[in-house]
Amino acid sequence: MIPYGKQNIDNDDIKSVVDVMQSDFLTQGPMTPLFEEELQSFCQAEFAVATINATSALHLACLSIGITKGDLVWTSPISFVASANCVKYCGGEVDFVDIDSKTNNMSIDSLEEKLILAKQKDRLPKAIIPVHLSGQSCDMKKIHDLSKLYGFKIIEDASHGIGGEYDGIPIGSCKYSDITVFSFHPVKIITTCEGGGLYDK
Ligand SMILES: Cc1ncc(COP(=O)(O)O)c(C=O)c1O
Repeated sequence: MIPYGKQNIDNDDIKSVVDVMQSDFLTQGPMTPLFEEELQSFCQAEFAVATINATSALHLACLSIGITKGDLVWTSPISFVASANCVKYCGGEVDFVDIDSKTNNMSIDSLEEKLILAKQKDRLPKAIIPVHLSGQSCDMKKIHDLSKLYGFKIIEDASHGIGGEYDGIPIGSCKYSDITVFSFHPVKIITTCEGGGLYDK
Protein backbone atom coordinates (compact mmCIF):
# COMPACT_ATOMS: atom_id res chain seq x y z
CA MET A 1 0.00 0.00 0.00
CA ILE A 2 1.29 3.50 -0.80
CA PRO A 3 1.12 5.51 2.46
CA TYR A 4 -0.49 8.97 2.49
CA GLY A 5 2.59 10.23 4.30
CA LYS A 6 5.58 8.81 6.14
CA GLN A 7 7.27 10.94 8.78
CA ASN A 8 10.86 10.60 9.93
CA ILE A 9 11.07 10.85 13.75
CA ASP A 10 14.53 10.26 15.23
CA ASN A 11 15.74 9.75 18.81
CA ASP A 12 16.49 13.47 19.28
CA ASP A 13 12.88 14.29 18.35
CA ILE A 14 11.59 11.71 20.84
CA LYS A 15 13.91 13.05 23.55
CA SER A 16 12.66 16.62 22.95
CA VAL A 17 9.06 15.50 23.43
CA VAL A 18 9.93 13.50 26.56
CA ASP A 19 11.83 16.53 27.97
CA VAL A 20 8.69 18.65 27.59
CA MET A 21 6.49 15.94 29.12
CA GLN A 22 8.81 15.74 32.13
CA SER A 23 9.01 19.53 32.50
CA ASP A 24 6.73 21.81 34.50
CA PHE A 25 4.82 22.93 31.41
CA LEU A 26 2.78 20.70 29.13
CA THR A 27 1.28 23.81 27.55
CA GLN A 28 2.16 27.52 27.46
CA GLY A 29 5.74 26.78 28.49
CA PRO A 30 8.97 28.06 26.94
CA MET A 31 9.02 25.68 23.93
CA THR A 32 6.41 27.48 21.85
CA PRO A 33 8.10 30.92 21.99
CA LEU A 34 11.41 29.19 21.28
CA PHE A 35 9.90 27.52 18.21
CA GLU A 36 8.43 30.87 17.10
CA GLU A 37 11.80 32.62 17.50
CA GLU A 38 13.61 29.88 15.54
CA LEU A 39 11.12 30.06 12.71
CA GLN A 40 11.06 33.84 12.65
CA SER A 41 14.83 33.94 12.30
CA PHE A 42 14.91 31.04 9.77
CA CYS A 43 12.34 32.80 7.57
CA GLN A 44 13.79 36.31 8.09
CA ALA A 45 10.32 37.50 9.12
CA GLU A 46 9.63 40.19 11.71
CA PHE A 47 7.04 38.25 13.67
CA ALA A 48 6.00 34.60 13.97
CA VAL A 49 3.02 33.10 15.81
CA ALA A 50 2.48 29.36 16.30
CA THR A 51 -1.06 28.06 15.83
CA ILE A 52 -2.77 24.68 16.14
CA ASN A 53 -2.67 24.14 12.37
CA ALA A 54 -2.50 26.04 9.08
CA THR A 55 -6.29 26.06 8.81
CA SER A 56 -6.49 28.22 11.95
CA ALA A 57 -3.49 30.30 10.80
CA LEU A 58 -5.28 31.06 7.51
CA HIS A 59 -8.45 31.95 9.44
CA LEU A 60 -6.50 34.30 11.75
CA ALA A 61 -4.69 35.80 8.76
CA CYS A 62 -8.03 36.65 7.13
CA LEU A 63 -9.38 38.13 10.37
CA SER A 64 -6.24 40.17 10.88
CA ILE A 65 -6.45 41.82 7.47
CA GLY A 66 -10.11 42.57 8.13
CA ILE A 67 -11.93 40.08 5.88
CA THR A 68 -15.58 40.35 6.74
CA LYS A 69 -19.07 39.69 5.34
CA GLY A 70 -19.27 40.29 1.60
CA ASP A 71 -15.52 40.79 1.04
CA LEU A 72 -14.13 39.00 -1.98
CA VAL A 73 -10.93 36.94 -1.80
CA TRP A 74 -9.29 35.01 -4.65
CA THR A 75 -7.16 31.91 -4.30
CA SER A 76 -5.91 28.96 -6.32
CA PRO A 77 -8.32 26.19 -7.41
CA ILE A 78 -5.62 23.53 -6.92
CA SER A 79 -5.14 23.39 -3.16
CA PHE A 80 -6.51 21.96 0.05
CA VAL A 81 -9.96 23.35 1.01
CA ALA A 82 -8.45 25.40 3.86
CA SER A 83 -7.05 27.98 1.37
CA ALA A 84 -10.64 28.92 0.49
CA ASN A 85 -12.54 27.97 3.66
CA CYS A 86 -10.68 30.58 5.73
CA VAL A 87 -12.51 33.27 3.76
CA LYS A 88 -15.90 31.62 4.31
CA TYR A 89 -15.23 31.46 8.09
CA CYS A 90 -15.10 35.28 8.02
CA GLY A 91 -18.28 35.63 5.93
CA GLY A 92 -16.35 36.51 2.78
CA GLU A 93 -16.81 35.24 -0.76
CA VAL A 94 -14.24 33.14 -2.59
CA ASP A 95 -13.36 33.06 -6.25
CA PHE A 96 -10.54 31.25 -8.02
CA VAL A 97 -7.76 32.37 -10.36
CA ASP A 98 -6.75 29.75 -12.92
CA ILE A 99 -3.39 28.04 -12.64
CA ASP A 100 -0.36 28.07 -14.91
CA SER A 101 -0.19 24.59 -16.46
CA LYS A 102 3.63 24.57 -16.24
CA THR A 103 3.95 25.38 -12.51
CA ASN A 104 0.45 24.46 -11.23
CA ASN A 105 0.63 27.74 -9.27
CA MET A 106 -1.63 30.77 -9.74
CA SER A 107 -1.23 32.09 -13.31
CA ILE A 108 -0.09 35.71 -13.37
CA ASP A 109 -1.68 36.24 -16.81
CA SER A 110 -5.03 34.91 -15.58
CA LEU A 111 -4.74 37.03 -12.43
CA GLU A 112 -4.07 40.17 -14.47
CA GLU A 113 -6.98 39.48 -16.85
CA LYS A 114 -9.34 38.79 -13.94
CA LEU A 115 -8.28 42.00 -12.17
CA ILE A 116 -8.94 44.12 -15.28
CA LEU A 117 -12.47 42.65 -15.56
CA ALA A 118 -13.08 42.97 -11.80
CA LYS A 119 -12.09 46.64 -11.89
CA GLN A 120 -14.55 47.28 -14.74
CA LYS A 121 -17.28 45.61 -12.66
CA ASP A 122 -16.16 47.43 -9.49
CA ARG A 123 -15.72 44.08 -7.71
CA LEU A 124 -12.02 43.89 -6.91
CA PRO A 125 -10.82 41.34 -4.32
CA LYS A 126 -9.81 42.58 -0.88
CA ALA A 127 -7.10 39.91 -0.73
CA ILE A 128 -5.40 37.20 -2.75
CA ILE A 129 -4.17 33.90 -1.30
CA PRO A 130 -1.54 32.43 -3.64
CA VAL A 131 -0.64 28.82 -2.80
CA HIS A 132 2.96 27.64 -3.21
CA LEU A 133 2.02 24.18 -4.43
CA SER A 134 4.49 21.45 -3.40
CA GLY A 135 6.77 24.15 -2.01
CA GLN A 136 7.41 25.91 -5.33
CA SER A 137 6.90 29.63 -4.81
CA CYS A 138 4.41 31.61 -6.88
CA ASP A 139 5.76 34.60 -8.78
CA MET A 140 5.46 36.85 -5.73
CA LYS A 141 7.08 39.98 -7.19
CA LYS A 142 4.45 40.13 -9.93
CA ILE A 143 1.59 39.44 -7.51
CA HIS A 144 3.01 42.14 -5.23
CA ASP A 145 3.23 44.65 -8.13
CA LEU A 146 -0.41 43.91 -9.01
CA SER A 147 -1.42 44.37 -5.35
CA LYS A 148 -0.03 47.91 -5.44
CA LEU A 149 -1.92 48.64 -8.66
CA TYR A 150 -5.26 47.16 -7.55
CA GLY A 151 -5.07 47.62 -3.78
CA PHE A 152 -5.41 44.08 -2.42
CA LYS A 153 -3.67 42.34 0.49
CA ILE A 154 -1.64 39.15 0.07
CA ILE A 155 -1.66 36.05 2.30
CA GLU A 156 0.81 33.42 1.09
CA ASP A 157 -0.42 29.88 1.73
CA ALA A 158 3.03 28.33 2.12
CA SER A 159 1.71 25.23 3.88
CA HIS A 160 4.05 23.14 1.71
CA GLY A 161 6.78 25.74 1.52
CA ILE A 162 9.02 25.91 4.59
CA GLY A 163 12.67 25.66 3.56
CA GLY A 164 11.95 26.95 0.06
CA GLU A 165 13.27 30.21 -1.35
CA TYR A 166 12.01 32.92 -3.67
CA ASP A 167 14.33 35.51 -5.16
CA GLY A 168 17.17 34.31 -2.89
CA ILE A 169 15.23 34.78 0.34
CA PRO A 170 13.29 32.24 2.42
CA ILE A 171 9.60 31.68 1.78
CA GLY A 172 7.99 33.23 4.86
CA SER A 173 9.98 36.46 4.86
CA CYS A 174 6.82 38.34 3.74
CA LYS A 175 8.93 40.59 1.51
CA TYR A 176 6.19 40.45 -1.14
CA SER A 177 3.14 39.79 1.05
CA ASP A 178 1.38 40.79 4.25
CA ILE A 179 1.30 37.37 5.92
CA THR A 180 2.66 33.88 5.18
CA VAL A 181 1.15 30.70 6.58
CA PHE A 182 2.88 27.32 7.10
CA SER A 183 1.49 23.92 8.02
CA PHE A 184 3.28 21.45 10.29
CA HIS A 185 0.89 18.56 9.62
CA PRO A 186 2.70 15.18 9.30
CA VAL A 187 2.61 15.19 5.47
CA LYS A 188 4.41 18.56 5.33
CA ILE A 189 8.16 19.33 5.32
CA ILE A 190 8.53 19.46 9.11
CA THR A 191 5.91 18.35 11.59
CA THR A 192 4.73 19.11 15.09
CA CYS A 193 2.04 16.38 14.63
CA GLU A 194 -0.56 19.08 13.98
CA GLY A 195 0.58 22.68 13.83
CA GLY A 196 0.80 25.86 11.85
CA GLY A 197 2.20 29.35 11.95
CA LEU A 198 1.70 32.87 10.71
CA TYR A 199 4.58 35.09 9.68
CA ASP A 200 4.30 38.80 9.33
CA LYS A 201 6.47 41.74 8.38
C1 LIG B 1 -2.15 24.25 0.67
C2 LIG B 1 -2.66 23.88 2.02
N1 LIG B 1 -3.17 24.85 2.80
C3 LIG B 1 -3.62 24.59 4.04
C4 LIG B 1 -3.59 23.31 4.55
C5 LIG B 1 -4.13 23.05 5.93
O1 LIG B 1 -3.10 22.62 6.77
P1 LIG B 1 -3.42 22.04 8.24
O2 LIG B 1 -3.70 20.58 8.09
O3 LIG B 1 -2.15 22.31 9.03
O4 LIG B 1 -4.58 22.80 8.77
C6 LIG B 1 -3.07 22.27 3.78
C7 LIG B 1 -3.06 20.89 4.30
O5 LIG B 1 -3.02 19.93 3.57
C8 LIG B 1 -2.59 22.56 2.48
O6 LIG B 1 -2.09 21.59 1.70
